[in-house]
Amino acid sequence: MKLRITVLPGDGVGPEVTQEAVGILRTVADINGYNFEFNECPIGGAAIVAEGHPFPRKTMDACLDSDAVLLGAVGGPGFDSLSPQQRPEAGLLQLRKALGGFANLRPAVAYDSIAASSPLRPEILKDANVLFVRELLGGLYFGEPRGVDDAYENGYNTMRYSAEEVRRVAKVAFGLARGRRQKLTSVDKANVLETSRLWRKVVNDVARDYPDVTLEHCLVDSFAMQLILDPRRFDVVVTENLFGDILSDEASVISGSLGMLASATIGGAIDLYEPVHGSAPDIAGKGIANPLGAIASAAMLLRHTAKLEHDAADIESAIVAILDSGLVTPDLQTAGGRGTAHTQEVGCAVERMVADLLNRRMAYHAV
Ligand code: NAD
Ligand code: IPM
Ligand code: MN
Repeated sequence: MKLRITVLPGDGVGPEVTQEAVGILRTVADINGYNFEFNECPIGGAAIVAEGHPFPRKTMDACLDSDAVLLGAVGGPGFDSLSPQQRPEAGLLQLRKALGGFANLRPAVAYDSIAASSPLRPEILKDANVLFVRELLGGLYFGEPRGVDDAYENGYNTMRYSAEEVRRVAKVAFGLARGRRQKLTSVDKANVLETSRLWRKVVNDVARDYPDVTLEHCLVDSFAMQLILDPRRFDVVVTENLFGDILSDEASVISGSLGMLASATIGGAIDLYEPVHGSAPDIAGKGIANPLGAIASAAMLLRHTAKLEHDAADIESAIVAILDSGLVTPDLQTAGGRGTAHTQEVGCAVERMVADLLNRRMAYHAV
């Protein structure tokens, strides 16, 4: 098994959490005898400083020449005076466009041992497991025209969707729902937006090919409330780009911390894996960022790109075991209280646990 992974650590806590995710991928490769090649490139603020551009040509070429891309996070307060098109975040949007993945999978799962991290009551959280499928290449993020006039009197962005953009992401969401609890919630604002009316019609059309999946439509404002009131109502949720951005951060309340959420972006030429969180400037450099979202993103890479389901599942089991052990960063709370562990301690503990699980699996198959 050969895999070329371009690693884009980015800014703030990005490099801190990415280092731990790469460490775990190296462990998986070493024990199984896989050949994983890692090629690190700058993106975001780090690339602006080093190369004068948030998504340098060399970084793009390296990404397009690899099997998967693993990203940390971009952005930071030092770049706030730049225009949206020049900022670190523009580099991430250019990366997404270049790779072509349109379906951004963002699972939010409740873990018993860190239930105290969430303000939601344990009986509301118990076994909650929602998979967001966020459309990633359309809507307000990429619609033209966009701009603000010189006097800063008028600003505008364009929300635009084609039927094909909706169709392709809806198919991914229905397919994923089929492999889970056969329930799909499509979130829109069809009472106000034309793009949402189109969205709803196309999702209904696609639904005819998935009679085994129960489809419901929800308006985004009431969905935002329902998600917190009763997260277990939902299985797979498909929505447009900006709604998905906002709702997936909200969904982190189910897992207890934004630092827990992973993502996979599929459907394009090259798959992209990144934690949902940002560069977390408030804790960057302190060594206390939660690396589990980045590590879980590495597990998704093994599952979706490398088709190494067993290895992905072992990483996920190791994450649960470490949470159960109480060795967690300060954004999390277990029965033993608020976490005091550092990023690297958590990363090393997951690494040891993964090694243990892999070695046990290999010993089992050897007899
Ligand atoms: P953020 O996600 O960086 O942080 C929000 C809160 O969550 C902060 O209190 C932070 O400390 C906490 N947090 C985030 N990740 C954590 C982790 N791994 N462990 C523990 N706590 C964690 O959002 P923000 O502060 O609004 O944005 C900061 C910068 O990041 C901005 O420039 C924004 O544009 C950028 N951003 C980038 C990405 C990305 O690269 N994918 C995603 C979101 C935001
Ligand atoms: C995310 C981030 C990005 C987004 C930003 C940094 C461009 O918030 O991945 O959720 O809005 O998609
Ligand atoms: Mn976001």
